[in-house]
Amino acid sequence: MNERLEAIKGNIIYAETPGELTVMPDSWIVTEGGIIRGIFGELPERYAAAEATDYGDMIITPSFTDLHLHAPQYPMLGLGMDLELLGWLNKYAFPTEAMFSDAGYARRVYSKLAHALIERGTTRVCIFSSLHREATNILMDELEKAGVTGYAGKVNMDRNGSEELIETTEESVAETRLFIEENKDRKLIKPILTPRFTPSCTNELMEELGKIAAEYPDIPVQSHLSENTDEMKWVKELHPDCQQYWETYAKYGLWTSRTVMAHCVWSDARERQAMRDAGVTAVHCADSNQNICSGVAPVRAMLNEGVKVALGSDIAGGDHLHMFDVVAASIRASKARRVLDNWETDFLTVPEGWYLATSAGAAYFAEQPGFAPGNHLHALVLADDDLPQPHPMTPQERLERAVYLRQGGAIRAVWSEGRKVFSAEG
Ligand code: GUN
Ligand code: FE
Repeated sequence: MNERLEAIKGNIIYAETPGELTVMPDSWIVTEGGIIRGIFGELPERYAAAEATDYGDMIITPSFTDLHLHAPQYPMLGLGMDLELLGWLNKYAFPTEAMFSDAGYARRVYSKLAHALIERGTTRVCIFSSLHREATNILMDELEKAGVTGYAGKVNMDRNGSEELIETTEESVAETRLFIEENKDRKLIKPILTPRFTPSCTNELMEELGKIAAEYPDIPVQSHLSENTDEMKWVKELHPDCQQYWETYAKYGLWTSRTVMAHCVWSDARERQAMRDAGVTAVHCADSNQNICSGVAPVRAMLNEGVKVALGSDIAGGDHLHMFDVVAASIRASKARRVLDNWETDFLTVPEGWYLATSAGAAYFAEQPGFAPGNHLHALVLADDDLPQPHPMTPQERLERAVYLRQGGAIRAVWSEGRKVFSAEG
């Protein structure tokens, strides 16, 4: 096989473990057929024929993973922020999602969203669509075209929606089966089961989704968990037989090592242990949790206890797609948590935040941390040469500043699944 050899050079920086940034100044990443072969100070003789690009003093770092966001809420970014979850869903989210019964509208919005993700350096997602199968297929087309990889799900909701945004149990099951069959052989974006949250799905529907999950072991599950206290009271009323929220998913076989649960703001030690035992990934969405007043998730406790944690923008509960901001918001939330915990828990550091937004998310897609050989290249190139420096800055400091400043135009190039998918030069 004669695979294309490529090499890119810059100041390479990544988080292989949560607390530490590995820095390799002025080094080359070599890829063959899009797969990382190694990082080298000097380009080895055997790779002399590689197509080489030297990014000079720029930073090269893994691209972002956004493990929780709602595609059809993209048009309502920054709206409804004076409401809490359940009111916000009824007043803003449901009417906005209902628009996606229109395939033309879906095409226009999803094409923009897909490019917005890539330009912001997000190359892997677990993303909710709406309940509309056709619009979900369009979302998957547009994500693939732009170079975004990961999972996308047609939402299931057969109760407590609105007049315009609801499906019958039969429709929900049939459309989900069709959605899976139509999309299971895609290369970059795969289908994921997406019961919206327990209040949106009848027990009959949950049972059918459990059967589908058992029939298709490669298809994972995403949903919401313990986000808001009113929501949790509601779940308790709907499932008096379940001691805790997570059990309403576990009861139907939807609680596995491939399950992704957004928020987990109010998950106590028992619920966290259930996550750890099953290998469920908790997706921390700090922006959203603050915007719609959900609370401050116990991320430090989850990490200490060995729960898998990644980050999500949760647009449009979160108000932007930029994962730089999501990292900064997670760090700030952990500082609020420290205060609420009477200074007994540590806050997240920048290297930890960077790990959660890159390597922790990549682990969900079965890749090794950082730029490990064997991984597909998912990377971004960052430039900060137009900013004044208070002193000669280390690559770690430059990354920290990128997280907090989110400079427009800082991302100069992006690779996804081994392919260059964005270049600031056009
Ligand atoms: N719970 C159920 N649906 C949603 C949603 O669209 N956004 C958020 N943040 N939480 C939810
Ligand atoms: Fe959400």
